[in-house]
Amino acid sequence: MNWQSDRHDVKPIYKQIASHLENQIACGEFPSGSKLPSERELAKQLQVNRSTIVAAYEELQALGLVERKHGSGTKVSSDIWGISYKRIPNWRHIVEQGSLLPNVPLFRQIQQETHHSQIIDLASGELSPDLFPSHFFQELMATKPFTWHLGYEKPQGNITLRETICTHVKKKKQIEVTPASILITSGAQQALHLVIQCLLRAGDAIAIEDPSYFYSLPLFQSAGLRIFLLPTDQDGINPDDVERLYKKHRIKMIFVNPHFQNPTGTLLSMERKLHLLEISAKYGIPIVEDDPYSLTSFSGEPVMTLKSMDQHGTVLYVSSLTKLAASGLRIGWVIGPQTVIERLADAKQQVDFGHSIFPEWISHHFLSSEIFDTHIDDMRAKLLQKSNIIMQALQNKLTDKVSYLVPQGGIHLWCKLNQPVNESALIKEAILHGVVFVPGSVLGSKEGYVRFTFGRAEDDLIEEGIDRFAQALSIAIE
Ligand SMILES: Cc1ncc(COP(=O)(O)O)c(C=O)c1O
Repeated sequence: MNWQSDRHDVKPIYKQIASHLENQIACGEFPSGSKLPSERELAKQLQVNRSTIVAAYEELQALGLVERKHGSGTKVSSDIWGISYKRIPNWRHIVEQGSLLPNVPLFRQIQQETHHSQIIDLASGELSPDLFPSHFFQELMATKPFTWHLGYEKPQGNITLRETICTHVKKKKQIEVTPASILITSGAQQALHLVIQCLLRAGDAIAIEDPSYFYSLPLFQSAGLRIFLLPTDQDGINPDDVERLYKKHRIKMIFVNPHFQNPTGTLLSMERKLHLLEISAKYGIPIVEDDPYSLTSFSGEPVMTLKSMDQHGTVLYVSSLTKLAASGLRIGWVIGPQTVIERLADAKQQVDFGHSIFPEWISHHFLSSEIFDTHIDDMRAKLLQKSNIIMQALQNKLTDKVSYLVPQGGIHLWCKLNQPVNESALIKEAILHGVVFVPGSVLGSKEGYVRFTFGRAEDDLIEEGIDRFAQALSIAIE
């Protein structure tokens, strides 16, 4: 419950809590007949004495708002119309009716924990603040006059930024494209959402990697898609599995994250890339290539994107600036056939009337600046260092207890726990010890795996994070 005591309020704390609960009852947060948290639970949540909650509940009882029965707790009275002039909607029930499903509770819990300053965050899939090009952004905003048009943006996004992206993808990813085939989106995430909403319908079968970031997105289930999993090894998915799935289930689309995959950090091998493209062309199955990480290769060797080898136009290419600059910019893009891009742009226009101009302006200057290349080189070196720190910490603190795939780029490390462990007990202990990670089951794997994101935490906290995890693990396996 979201309540803070107000030190300037002359009302005693129990009355402040009673008023807060009264408001929540009045606005339908607690509908008539619903159960309120137990005295013990609420006292823990609000960090007050249990006697304060007892006094608050007694106050509400005196007002006729709640009924209290020994042994069965406190419930909102069935007759509470007196506190509102209108019939109160049952918001709890209403929020369960929407078509977009919520994130799974475990994922929401982990996300909430990452906001506490004492927690070491080995869970959030983003860069640590020291990797953001903040100086460049500050200088740009202080020195460059902003002259772009402030009206609604074009449905496909700003033309200057799209031209800049054409130059960027040609130079860095060997993708030849014109601005007409690009849509600017709010990160790769919105691109995926639009693809699902506009190009697929309920009942369609799709294939995703197992484990994968896609698995953690309720977007697929919300759209009523039938999801089939493609097992992965150190070289990514096996394209023969795609063919098998197509023959059996007529899959309509394949979603892959071929470079430094989230969560395994693996690269789809060249041989498999070519084979995948062949199968996609043979059966006419579109591939969504989700590629936020390919420029983070630790060796510095460029990787060949599927899109750059796509001779038959079967690949929709998705990328963003989240893992290259800053997640808060919310700039991503889709590259594909013009018909598809126009359809997605029309949907984006319906949803948000086009992109915000300011992140587009900043991203154009960032992508076309002289510092871009040095920033990427610097970032790759720092990510490599972080990955070495986490691997060293795993050796020091968890030898024999875990095995892992050595990341070749990206920001994640996929770790197998060598002994069986109860996942929820582990997560609970880890939070108590002040560290969060993503349990494998959220990403579609069986229990016994965890994803550590080494790109998010600052260098000096990574080892401490693994130390805390090791302590939590030793308690959870007892
Ligand atoms: C593989 C992959 N795709 C897409 C996204 C979405 O990123 P964004 O919307 O910030 O570009 C992420 C974020 O972690 C990711 O790991």
